[in-house]
Amino acid sequence: MPCEVLRVDPVSPSPDVIARAAAVVRAGGLVAFPTETVYGLGANALDPAAVARIFTAKGRPAANPLIVHVAEIADARTMVAAWSDLAQRLAERFWPGPLTLVLPKHSSVPDPVTAGGPTVALRIPAHPVALALLRACGLPLAAPSANRSTELSPTEAGHVLRGLADRIDLLLDARPTMGGLESTVLDLTTTPPRLLRPGLVTITQLEALLGPIARAPSDPAQPVRSPGQMARHYAPQTLLEVVTHSRDRVEVLCGQGRRVGWLTHHTSEKIDSANVLRILMPAEPVSYSAQLYAALHRLDDLGLHCIVVETPPSGDDWLAVHDRLRRASTEYHQP
Ligand code: TXA
Ligand code: MG
Repeated sequence: MPCEVLRVDPVSPSPDVIARAAAVVRAGGLVAFPTETVYGLGANALDPAAVARIFTAKGRPAANPLIVHVAEIADARTMVAAWSDLAQRLAERFWPGPLTLVLPKHSSVPDPVTAGGPTVALRIPAHPVALALLRACGLPLAAPSANRSTELSPTEAGHVLRGLADRIDLLLDARPTMGGLESTVLDLTTTPPRLLRPGLVTITQLEALLGPIARAPSDPAQPVRSPGQMARHYAPQTLLEVVTHSRDRVEVLCGQGRRVGWLTHHTSEKIDSANVLRILMPAEPVSYSAQLYAALHRLDDLGLHCIVVETPPSGDDWLAVHDRLRRASTEYHQP
C-alpha cells in the first residue's frame, strides 16, 4: 500500500502534522522526513524492531550502521560512552548542521543501529521539520537517507516515493532540501580525527577548528572504515561517466545515435542535437552540491544510453562532489 504523504511547511511546520508523524514513530513506524542535506528515513533509534524495518525497507546490508539524529547536545551525550572536549567544540560550532560525529557508543544504543559495532554516529539536523519531529516524539531517530540501498539519495519527496512508496508508513513533503548532499562524517575515536565521508561541512572548515585531520582513502579499492564508503553507492540506474573534455565525448556518443545526458559547468559549451539533454551546473561547489542529485534523478528517468559529467573543478571545497560522482560512476577521470 502506498504510504501516506503529508505536506508540511519547511519553515514553520504545522504542529498537527508533526504530532501525527511523531505518533507513527512512537508506534514503531517509518517516517521519511526532510533534513537540510537529503530526506531521511527515520525510526525510533531505541526500538530494535523499528530499526530493523529501516534495513528491510532500504534493502540495506545489516553491516552498515545508521546515523542517530537528536534535537539537543544533551540528547547526543546520552547516546555515547564518553563525550570529549573535541566533540563539545565541534557540536557547538556545527550543530544543528551537516556534520556527523562518530563516538564510542553507550550500552543503551541497540546493536542494529551501530551494526553491532562499538561506535555510534550522531548529528543534530538543521531543518525545522526534522527538529520539530525530534522534539515532538522525544526520541532519537535513526535515519539513513530515504532511498533503496546504493541508489541516489532523495532531495525531493518524489525521489523518496520512487524507491520507497510502498515500504514506509509516512512521508513529510516539505519541498526540495537545501543542501543536496549528505552530511560530513567525522570519526572522533581516532587521533587525529578522521574524515570518513566528505560532505557539506568542508575539510577546510574542520581543519580551521581542529588542525590537520586524517582523510578517508580516496581510492575506493582501499579497505573501508565506514561502510557507506563502498565503491558503488549514490548511483543512478543509467551508466555514468565523469570525463574531462566532456563535449568531445558527448559528440562521439551522439554520432553513434545514442541519447545522452550531459552535466557540465562550462556555460559556453553546447551541442545542438535532440539526442543530447544538457543540464548546466553551477561552477561553485555549494550550489553544485545542492543541484547534483536532482539533476541525476531527472536524467535517470529518461532511459538514456548514459550520463556524461564534465569533471568538476578540484580543491577541498569540491571533495564531497567528487566523492559522490566517483561512487556513482562506471568511469571516473580525476581532475
Ligand atoms: O546527511 C545525512 O547524513 C543523511 C541525513 C538523513 O541525515 N543521512 C545519511 O545516512 O546520509 P546514510 O545512512 O545514508 O549514511 C550514513 C553514513 C554511512 O556512510 C555509514 O556507513 C556511516 O554514515 N556511519 C554510520 N554510523 C557509523 C559508525 N558508527 N561508524 C562509521 N561510519 C558510520
Ligand atoms: Mg545513504
